[in-house]
Amino acid sequence: MGDEPLILGIETSCDETGLAVVRGTTVLSNVLASQVEAHARFGGVVPEVAARAHVEAIRSLTHRALAQAGVHQLDLDAIAATRGPGLAGALMVGFAYGKALAWGLDTPFLGVDHMEGHLFAPLLEDDTFGPPAIVLLVSGGHSQIVRMDDWGVYETVGSTIDDAAGEAFDKLARFLGLGFPGGPAIDRESEGGDPQAVSFPRALPDRPFDFSFSGLKTAVTTFVRERHAAGTLPPLADLAASIQEAIVDVLVSKTFNAAEAAGISTVGGGGGVVANRRLRVRMAEEAERRGVTLYLSSPALSTDNGAMIAAAGRFRFRQGERTPLGAEIDPSLRLGS
Ligand code: KG4
Ligand code: ZN
Repeated sequence: MGDEPLILGIETSCDETGLAVVRGTTVLSNVLASQVEAHARFGGVVPEVAARAHVEAIRSLTHRALAQAGVHQLDLDAIAATRGPGLAGALMVGFAYGKALAWGLDTPFLGVDHMEGHLFAPLLEDDTFGPPAIVLLVSGGHSQIVRMDDWGVYETVGSTIDDAAGEAFDKLARFLGLGFPGGPAIDRESEGGDPQAVSFPRALPDRPFDFSFSGLKTAVTTFVRERHAAGTLPPLADLAASIQEAIVDVLVSKTFNAAEAAGISTVGGGGGVVANRRLRVRMAEEAERRGVTLYLSSPALSTDNGAMIAAAGRFRFRQGERTPLGAEIDPSLRLGS
C-alpha cells in the first residue's frame, strides 16, 4: 500500500462535478456537487448550465477532497481527469483544470475515458474484481457490453443501436411526468408496482448482444395514449415497474448470454443505471443461477464520481502512461471499439 500512488480524480463530463482522492483501491475522499436542481426545471441537462456550474464548484470541491483525505496537494503523485466521452463544454472545465493543476504542481497528468472509469468502479469496493470479465456499462449517454481480457484490453461485444439505457429511463420518465433525472424517478415509482402488469416489447432478440430502446419508447407512448383515451390506464406504479422490467430484462439476459458465449464466469457492471435496484436484484439472481461471480459498483460509485476516474487513472499511471498537457478533450471517445 505504501508504494501505491496518491491520485486526484476529476470528473466533469456531464452534470456532476466529482473530485476524489484515491490511494491504491482505497477511496480516501469522494465529493460531489450535483447540478440536478439547476437542470430539473429544463427537464434535462443543459450543456451551458453544466459547464458554468462545473467552473463554480471545482476549486472548492478540490480543497474539500484533499482536506477530507487528509493530504496536501503536494503529496499527489498524479492527477486524472475525464477526457471524454461527454459534453464538450463540461469536459473542458475539468480537463483544463486538471492540466493546469498538474502543470502548477509539476505532477503527471492522465486523461481518462469516462466509460473506463465506470468499468474500474467495482474494483474500488472489491479488489478481487478483474479480467477475464464481461462488463455491462450503462450510463445516460452510452450502453455497451464489454469483454475485458486484461485491464486496458477491451472489446465491445454489444452496444445500443439507438438510445442508451439511461436515456430510455430519462425519456420515458419525462413522458410519464415523473421529472428529471428519470432513472431514479422510475426506480422509486416502481416500488410496489407489478412488473408483469404490462408486457412491453423486448428489443432485438435476433442481435444477441446489442440493445435498442426506441421501440420500447414507441410502445409505451402508444399504450399510454390509447389506454388514457379509453380510461383504462393502469396505475403509475405498475406502468413504471413494467417499463423498468422491459429495460432490465434485456440488459440482464444479454449480459449473461455474452458471458456464456465467451466462456467467462465473471460479470461486472458500472454506470448510472447500475444504481437501479431492480437491475441489481435481477443481476444477482441471474449470477447465482448461472454460477457466475458478479461485481457491481455500489449505487454511489455507479453514478458519475471522481473516484472512478482516479481508479482508471491509477491503472494508466502504473502502466507508465502520461497525457501531454497539450492534449485536448475528446467528446466522442469510444471504449473498446
Ligand atoms: O453514469 P451516469 O451517472 O452519467 C452518465 O455518464 O451519463 O448515468 C446517468 C444515468 C441517467 O440516465 C440516470 O437516469 C440513470 O443513469 N440512473 C438510473 C438510476 N440512477 C441513475 N437509472 C435507473 N435507475 C436508477 N436508480
Ligand atoms: Zn457516467
